[in-house]
Amino acid sequence: MSLTSNIYNPKGISQTSIDLLKDIYKSAGSYDTDNMQKLAGSKEAKEVLRNESSIDVDRITVCHFYKHSHPYFPHTDFHTNEKENIVIPLEVVNGPNPYLVIFDQWFDGDGRTWTFRENLNFEFNKSLKGRPCDFSIHEKTEEDLPSNLYKYLSHHPRNYWYGLTGYAYEFKVGSYIKFDSKKIHATSRLFCESKLGLTIRYRA
Ligand SMILES: [Fe+2]
Repeated sequence: MSLTSNIYNPKGISQTSIDLLKDIYKSAGSYDTDNMQKLAGSKEAKEVLRNESSIDVDRITVCHFYKHSHPYFPHTDFHTNEKENIVIPLEVVNGPNPYLVIFDQWFDGDGRTWTFRENLNFEFNKSLKGRPCDFSIHEKTEEDLPSNLYKYLSHHPRNYWYGLTGYAYEFKVGSYIKFDSKKIHATSRLFCESKLGLTIRYRA
């Protein structure tokens, strides 16, 4: 089977749309992020995206904002109606841009989150304790993560990333990144205070 290739779109979406999306997020600031994923995000954000010719709004099945101050675990997002991810950076606060690391390795099945040594339970993208390489992921190598990639992921010991290769995409406002939801991905070590993004998923 073949996965869709990663596409980095340096032109992304317009500044007008970015500003409108940030306004939507900020005006809903009294909701917590979990609630936001279910309410404010979807409908209004989709209306904004209708102005963007490179976004196929009719294929969107998931649309939510997320704001992070800490790197997130490696995970996949695939579900029956979620085949492709688009990550749209909206804001990076007080520091250099972080990166989104998309690995070449992928997991064939519903989205999962690898929590390394931590016992965590997630309702969505259910947790797997351990490293991705300890599970049946596709295309894993028999080598350590390359050092040019480890520099983005040094918040964990290098052997946690054993068997992985991939590419680090800059989380840069004004660009976006599209990739197959089955691909394992993780956020880089953050040297900024926080980052805000909009993530959308396409059905097939
Ligand atoms: Fe994700």
